[in-house]
Amino acid sequence: QVVTMDKIISLCRRRGFIFQSSEIYGGLNGAYDYGPLGVDLKNNIRDFWWKEMTQMHDNIVGLDASILMHPRVWEASGHVSNFSDPMVDCKVCKSRFRADQIDLNAPCPVCGNKDSFTEPRNFNLMFETHIGANKDSASVVYLRPETAQGIYVDFKNVLQSSRVKIPFGIAQVGKSFRNEITTKNFIFRSCEFEQMEMQFFCKPGTEDEWFPYWREQRMNFYKKMGIHPEHLRWHQHGPDELAFYAKDAYDIQFLFPMGWQELEGVHSRTNYDLTQHEKFSGKDLTYLDPETNERYIPFVVETSAGLTRNVLMALSDAYDEEKTPEGDVRTVLHFHPQIAPVKVAVLPLVKKDGIAEYASKLEHSLREDFVTFYDQSGAVGRRYRRMDEIGTPYCITVDYQTLEDHTVTVRFRDSMQQERVAVDQIVPFIKNAMKN
Ligand code: GAP
Repeated sequence: QVVTMDKIISLCRRRGFIFQSSEIYGGLNGAYDYGPLGVDLKNNIRDFWWKEMTQMHDNIVGLDASILMHPRVWEASGHVSNFSDPMVDCKVCKSRFRADQIDLNAPCPVCGNKDSFTEPRNFNLMFETHIGANKDSASVVYLRPETAQGIYVDFKNVLQSSRVKIPFGIAQVGKSFRNEITTKNFIFRSCEFEQMEMQFFCKPGTEDEWFPYWREQRMNFYKKMGIHPEHLRWHQHGPDELAFYAKDAYDIQFLFPMGWQELEGVHSRTNYDLTQHEKFSGKDLTYLDPETNERYIPFVVETSAGLTRNVLMALSDAYDEEKTPEGDVRTVLHFHPQIAPVKVAVLPLVKKDGIAEYASKLEHSLREDFVTFYDQSGAVGRRYRRMDEIGTPYCITVDYQTLEDHTVTVRFRDSMQQERVAVDQIVPFIKNAMKN
């Protein structure tokens, strides 16, 4: 059973994961704010990806390129001429639609007027702004619509400064911007979003070995993150979807509340981008193979995931409403412990008799190792529910027995089982539980 988007949106707002941007001013379409829990969830997914890509592979290095780049970058990449969607406006109500997503012979879906659409025209998705004091055509710069171009443009710098040898990859996480015409489905498609991209540079002719390797690695990543395998599948690009320079492309799709949709793309991009940048910049972007003395422009296998789209995936995959043995329903987010925003909640059974003080001290002592939360208000059952709803995997309860023997109850979010653990063993106990 797949959760509805309304339930996700409502939970995100209620518990402080995600808010609409500028809400007190009526909101801004296609922009979202990550609240106290959302920012930790997003950062945890980012760190999970970063570790997987850079730390767990011996040939991937990191980069953080700027959002604003020389405008010629986007001419070279083809974004100035090709990065557009066909768009129509309703002449009566001024609503804007993607021409390929509505029936142009039907009445306007917003105001109901017939024959009110403009002719379809191409609408470039890049946001333009100006650099410097003059706002003329010479000062135009774009907010990057993908992080990948920063990697290509810095290819030579990384090569010359990091002693990497082909095959190697450059990984980057950062904001990208697209002036999307349709921004429904919450954070799935927004105008400001984050990407986690890696360009893997290899010797021409070896890309057909690396392409399946990276497809497997990327699918395994989601399984490692605890995503239900039945919510993940592959979609190979057909000839009408494939970019003209691409050799092959597969999307990892996830079963979102609105159906199967792209989560990440794994693309075999040939040497198109580096060749274009060599042409436009006039700089030599070839690689000299130190063993064979061959000189070539490397081929690229790209893995390109949406970080903010990953957040929606994590929430949708983890969400559950479960009947409890007591007969009521609990809302629970079954996050993998590594990405859960709060790892450990410490709850005193009662506030009196020194129990709250004991619990508070224990919570402080755990901060070095875990993101913790202290909650002493309300019945303990309700406090468990509040923690279930934000996906906290472990709740520690301090009670009267704790004062006698320095043991506490650890309650597991998913099974709701409880175990008695000595206070001085709590840190290794939870670290070990997080691994399993
Ligand atoms: N460098 C290749 C590239 O950017 P893409 O398929 O356009 O490829 C890659 O984007 C990923 O970025 C997508 O799979 C998706 O997860 C994410 N993405 C793209 N546009 C997005 C948007 N408007 N909002 C949120 N995520 C987006």
